[in-house]
Amino acid sequence: MEKDNMGGQAGRHFLQIPGPTNTPLPVLAAIAKPTIDHRGPEFAGLGREVLSGVRTIFKTSQPVIIYPASGTGAWEAALVNTLSPGDKVLMFETGWFSTLWNRMAMRLGLEAEFIKGDWRSGVDAGAIETRLGDDKDHAIKAVAVVHNETSTGVASNIAAVRRAIDKAKHPALLLVDTISSLGSIDYRHEEWGVDVTVGGSQKGLMLPPGLSFNAISEKALAASKTARLPRSFWDWEDMLSSNEKGLFPYTPSTNLLHGLKVALDLLHEEGLDNVFARHDRAAEATRRCVRHWGLEIQCRNAAEYSSSLTAVRLPEGHSADDLRAEILSRFNMSLGNGLGPLADKVFRIGHLGDFHDLMVTGVLSGVEMGLRMCGIPHRPGGVQAAMSYLSGNAGPLARAAE
Ligand SMILES: Cc1ncc(COP(=O)(O)O)c(C=O)c1O
Repeated sequence: MEKDNMGGQAGRHFLQIPGPTNTPLPVLAAIAKPTIDHRGPEFAGLGREVLSGVRTIFKTSQPVIIYPASGTGAWEAALVNTLSPGDKVLMFETGWFSTLWNRMAMRLGLEAEFIKGDWRSGVDAGAIETRLGDDKDHAIKAVAVVHNETSTGVASNIAAVRRAIDKAKHPALLLVDTISSLGSIDYRHEEWGVDVTVGGSQKGLMLPPGLSFNAISEKALAASKTARLPRSFWDWEDMLSSNEKGLFPYTPSTNLLHGLKVALDLLHEEGLDNVFARHDRAAEATRRCVRHWGLEIQCRNAAEYSSSLTAVRLPEGHSADDLRAEILSRFNMSLGNGLGPLADKVFRIGHLGDFHDLMVTGVLSGVEMGLRMCGIPHRPGGVQAAMSYLSGNAGPLARAAE
């Protein structure tokens, strides 16, 4: 029988990319249940439970749609359900994922305007306000931004984007990607007046990839009645009418939904505020370590640091990919690669999902040894800086119930 960790090494693999994340054993056990009839009464109970339970995670009382798809599918669903061919969409270049969403909007026949960014900062709400203020005839139908840019480790202020839209007195819909923040960083769909929130299963929700979400507002639902982009698989209407009975219009990912039920229970038992605080601690410990090493954090502004991942820049002339390869082969740990123009220049440490203090120090130890083995200039002792922080700041116990 093949070992279940990579590289045939002893011990567990450290999956420290910023998603997919480690799946907790109770979630894996739930997914391993025998497959059930997706049109039968047992499934309808499960369907109702997850469709209602997941709303708490988005902080919404409105419907959340669950697709058997990766996050990219839910991006598409958000666009095709609310917009019509040729509609203008205002987007902001925070990094790789905002760039891909922008490309998708153009491929779908939307006129996507992309406000330039530097891949080191979040959405500039002031720039959104100015652009919307200039759009006197309200040609822009939606503003679409990424909450937590996974390629850079920058978290944008979505409440500020909402205020910018309101200040400009503009009716555009607000669409937000929370694929790498949901269940890790505080997010409030309803309070922040978001119209469509896009989520994915494989990061803060601690599930394998394969489920994605659209949390929708009444305004988004109203827009979907007149939106004319072609859609079939992604159509909200079919979903919502089946979901009323706990069912789906096509075959759902039954086993992932069993896992979702348990993952939601784990998050609710720990308490979302405790979950966010745990992520904040891991992120702060990581940054203290990186600063001690003398390496640069990709995110420029402290107010925009991501609590789910940290992207670290390597000094000129050193290869982040070589470092990652060395760490994988020696310590059986996967770190995130640099994406697009950041390829080989940064590596990304995922500190999200099913993760606690000792794992933070383990991960950072692996990186510090890797830096040394690859001859990358750094000041040794970063892990000690992280330990001092973690041992002096006893936060809420990570999932005391387990
Ligand atoms: C912020 C963000 N948006 C979108 C995606 C795309 O999601 P998926 O790869 O699940 O299709 C990712 C994937 O990592 C992401 O991090």
